[in-house]
Amino acid sequence: MHNFTLHTPTKIIFGKGQIAQLGNEIPKDAKVLLIYGGGSIKYNGVLAQVYAALKDFSVKEFGGIEPNPAYEILIGAVEYIHHHEIDYLLAIGGGSVIDGTKFIATAVNYPHENLWEILSTNGDHITSALPFSCVLTLPATGSETNNISVISRRETNDKQHFTSPFIFPKIAILDPEVTFSLPEHQIANGIVDAFIHTLEQYLTYPVNAKVQDRYAEGLLMTLLEEGSRALKEPENYDVRANIMWAATQALNGILGAGVPQDWATHMLAHQLTAFHGLDHAQTLAIILPNLLQEKRRAKQDKLLQYAQRVWGFTEGSEEEQVNQAIHATRQFFENLGVKTHLSDYQLDGRSIPAMIKKLEQQGLVALGEHQDITLDVSKRIYEASI
Ligand code: NZQ
Ligand code: ZN
Repeated sequence: MHNFTLHTPTKIIFGKGQIAQLGNEIPKDAKVLLIYGGGSIKYNGVLAQVYAALKDFSVKEFGGIEPNPAYEILIGAVEYIHHHEIDYLLAIGGGSVIDGTKFIATAVNYPHENLWEILSTNGDHITSALPFSCVLTLPATGSETNNISVISRRETNDKQHFTSPFIFPKIAILDPEVTFSLPEHQIANGIVDAFIHTLEQYLTYPVNAKVQDRYAEGLLMTLLEEGSRALKEPENYDVRANIMWAATQALNGILGAGVPQDWATHMLAHQLTAFHGLDHAQTLAIILPNLLQEKRRAKQDKLLQYAQRVWGFTEGSEEEQVNQAIHATRQFFENLGVKTHLSDYQLDGRSIPAMIKKLEQQGLVALGEHQDITLDVSKRIYEASI
């Protein structure tokens, strides 16, 4: 096991009716800005619950954060904060709203004029951030308890992330009931995203980290079991609770502590969203099976462990077991309704040269746990994904 430092300071409040706790958790004198997306929280009652909890607080609103949150919109929120008395942010939504809030929280006090620099320097110059909390409405990204934010810039086709010790949410409210209003495809997206977060930290090479391995296998098996049930039994609270908790755990730091990590699937996938607007999970489902095929020699030991322990494939040669596991993974995504080829989204690969160029511009030229996914390898993975 590698050395590691782990700090996960977000206070998690989990369960039915827990949005009501906000009033006890946010400082009484806070001047709060509610930040949300396209309006789902208005029709599913979440916004009303937040207002009830914050009835004694000074509250203002900034809505309209789109999926794959746009830099161009977020800087509007930064302006808004400069002109209003705000000292606390509350994100209400999925990963896009929470990531957008993380960016806003750091951009408000950022010492340089060029705010995109927060992304292009991976948050290196951040010295402070407004305090913020979140009410999660879509289990998927893990953003609710981690220190990662992914922001898109529409005008330049950039989608990049930054990390910072200043962007852990103070409090995360996780009420599985608020996920009942999610459309089926967003539930499926969330399951795929959490599954692939786990694989990015598990399918590398062995370092004899038994706790992390079995923890990852537990999350994967939970997502496999509950994934298809979530679509068949849309009002099953326990299923939603298991998925919500699994998705948070899949990217809150503990799984990846002390083990090698890959993340090449995510970096290649981000370009697909930046160029074609596909959902985050769709892009992951397209890239991952081909990346596993491409790197199967280097990942052989863990792929075999995955095949045997997660899928129960123990018959046939090692080669066959790995084949079965990669095939079953793709099939799991397809069964959830998340298509796994570029052609399923009417894309023919014409943008591959531009995406490769973007990877190069962003310095993503040596990806994966061995830093051996060069631009040539990335190109092969994109081509195999058509
Ligand atoms: O905008 P509203 O109207 O709220 O609708 C949203 C949005 O259209 C809807 N939705 C959310 N909760 C709902 C709901 N609709 C009905 N009922 C509810 N309870 O769902 C749509 C998608 O929301 P979004 O926040 O975009 O989805 P997700 O949580 O999948 O977030 C995706 C973003 O997170 C980034 C992705 O790249 C993408 O930009 N990621 C963030 C990570 C992180 N911070 O750690 C890691 C991930 O790998 C990922 O990259
Ligand atoms: Zn992801």
